[in-house]
Amino acid sequence: MTRIIALTNNKGGVAKTTSTLNIASGLKNHGKRVLMIDLDSQASLTISLGVQPEQFKNNSIVQVLEETLDITQTILKLNNGLYLIASNMYLKETNNKIANKHFKEFILKKQIDKIKDNFDYILLDCPPSINNLTINGLMASNEVFIPIASEYLALTGAGQLIDEINELREGNNDLKITGLFVTRYDGRRNLDSQVYEVLKEQYNDLVFNTIINTNVAVAEAPSHQKDIFTYAPNSQGAIDYENLVKEILKMEVKK
Ligand SMILES: Nc1ncnc2c1ncn2[C@@H]1O[C@H](COP(=O)(O)OP(=O)(O)OP(=O)(O)O)[C@@H](O)[C@H]1O
Ligand SMILES: [Mg+2]
Repeated sequence: MTRIIALTNNKGGVAKTTSTLNIASGLKNHGKRVLMIDLDSQASLTISLGVQPEQFKNNSIVQVLEETLDITQTILKLNNGLYLIASNMYLKETNNKIANKHFKEFILKKQIDKIKDNFDYILLDCPPSINNLTINGLMASNEVFIPIASEYLALTGAGQLIDEINELREGNNDLKITGLFVTRYDGRRNLDSQVYEVLKEQYNDLVFNTIINTNVAVAEAPSHQKDIFTYAPNSQGAIDYENLVKEILKMEVKK
């Protein structure tokens, strides 16, 4: 069964986009067919992959959600072997445009159902708020990953977010939060190890063992339109994301 995973956190800058890109690349390196969907009008994922949002503004996630194109017409095959449905700034308007539609939460699900069998993994990069776009992402997914930046107050936010996602499960019984992982970890700060420990204590099995360290190569890679494995294969960032990907692959066996 295709794993459809939304990377969500209403907090900004926690590495949703960075993790979507690097997890997708890591899975692809393990032979998986992976589609990424950019659900953020900032289009950071699209840009990080070297795709110009303007160039694809007429066959993007906007047309999928506004139901003016079939999803098959919006899937871009990238040179690196990954697949992408691009975003652009007009997606912000889409969020409002679909607000009064009946069943607006399920537009993306309906479309993804048509193509999901072509992929092993579909990763959705959500915006930093729970808006109509994120809810569409969550209704279309069967799993949620929550990246948590290692910082003070990260944990209070996490509790609320988990409660909110659990409420949304009313609209999608298949949806499960399957993974929390700590990003932007700095071992020199005492606080950072506390964030991980407290998360483990509260959510134990839901927390990935892998911690993504703060690593300059991870931040640099997108400006070279590369994932961490091609940009800096020996970096700590590549090691961390590879370990995370291995944990994600191991979950397949349990399923
Ligand atoms: N492991 C890391 N080491 C260093 N910098 C990182 C790491 N992970 C992410 N960053 C940097 O942190 C910033 C935020 O990352 P990213 O854009 O992936 O977060 P996001 O959750 O998608 O943000 P938004 O909420 O705006 O969509 C970026 O500048 C990114 O390069
Ligand atoms: Mg982002």
